[in-house]
Amino acid sequence: MVKYLDLHKLNARFEAAFKAEFNDLIIESQYILGNKVITFETEFAQYCGASHCLGVGNGLDALTLILKGYVHLGKLNPGDHVIVPANTFIATILSVIHAGLKPILVEPSLQTYNLTAEGIKSHLNEQVKAIIIVHLYGQLADPYITTLAKTNNLLLIEDAAQAHGAKNRDNSMAGAIGDAAAFSFYPSKNLGALGDGGAVTTNDKELFNRVALLRNYGSHKKYINETIGVNSRLDSLQAGILSIKLKQLNNDNEKRRTIAQRYLKQISNDKIILPFVEVQQAHVFYAFVVRVENREVFMSYLEKYHVGFVIHYPIAPHQQNALKDFNSVHLPITETIHNTCISIPLNPIMSDEEVTYVINTLNRY
Ligand SMILES: Cc1ncc(COP(=O)(O)O)c(C=O)c1O
Repeated sequence: MVKYLDLHKLNARFEAAFKAEFNDLIIESQYILGNKVITFETEFAQYCGASHCLGVGNGLDALTLILKGYVHLGKLNPGDHVIVPANTFIATILSVIHAGLKPILVEPSLQTYNLTAEGIKSHLNEQVKAIIIVHLYGQLADPYITTLAKTNNLLLIEDAAQAHGAKNRDNSMAGAIGDAAAFSFYPSKNLGALGDGGAVTTNDKELFNRVALLRNYGSHKKYINETIGVNSRLDSLQAGILSIKLKQLNNDNEKRRTIAQRYLKQISNDKIILPFVEVQQAHVFYAFVVRVENREVFMSYLEKYHVGFVIHYPIAPHQQNALKDFNSVHLPITETIHNTCISIPLNPIMSDEEVTYVINTLNRY
């Protein structure tokens, strides 16, 4: 039996350090935005090669606060159009709506499952003011989008919720590619907390100051409120936990790549479409997503042989009840991906035997 992801086993590696961190917090007693949050923010900004980092409540808030921040600064106006990949996790689209902007769903490449500069071009018009790239499944989006955004004077925002540590050929990392980036530390992520958590990274000092204000009731000084903010702060205990796990992130990502290499080389079955990987370092394999016809049959097969799986994601955002305005739109590439994708186990605590078992099981399908 191979579980999709054993979170207990994943975090058991750090148990002693977590307990020490908890004891330390009890003694220190800075529960909200104290030293532990500042320390993690400094470490994570440095890790991504960004000038600033702000810990927030979760990945959705990170995205929403970036967009609201740009609205506050006058760089976006209510109703402006924002390009997003149609096949993303719904949070990307929700953030645009929560910020009072209009999401424009654009089809991804069927090869990489990410937006491409070519695919975006035909959607550009004077109403489009920003692009959110999503580094889906851990693979960086097309680097040419950075040039496209600059040439057209558009804000470029990264949804890096699945891509902690992914690196471009020029060594720029997820979190320091666009004007600002949003991370999620949801427990299953490559850098995951023991609860909810998120962060904004940016080189834009003005945006940094604005998001710092917005995440904390619009306040820099207690009980002095300068603007209408929210309460979305990274929890101090989670910050301490993340500082511990950050030290292991590169090793974990390397382990993920090693397993992915074995899958890519050793899974050989005409019925299974493997992911396309152009640059090794640009993929951190948050998920190893294959595609199959007749997914139900494949799922029953995996269940029979006790191989765990997850579907990222079973229903396309434009077909969700929550996004009724988009229900009549037809997006064939996105629909194909959602109807055929399935993620097989890939995580840093898998043993070689488990990886071999997954490979053999898929090859026998
Ligand atoms: C691509 C993407 N964007 C945004 C989010 C939102 O993150 P969170 O669940 O921390 O709000 C997630 C993760 O859940 C995600 O995978």
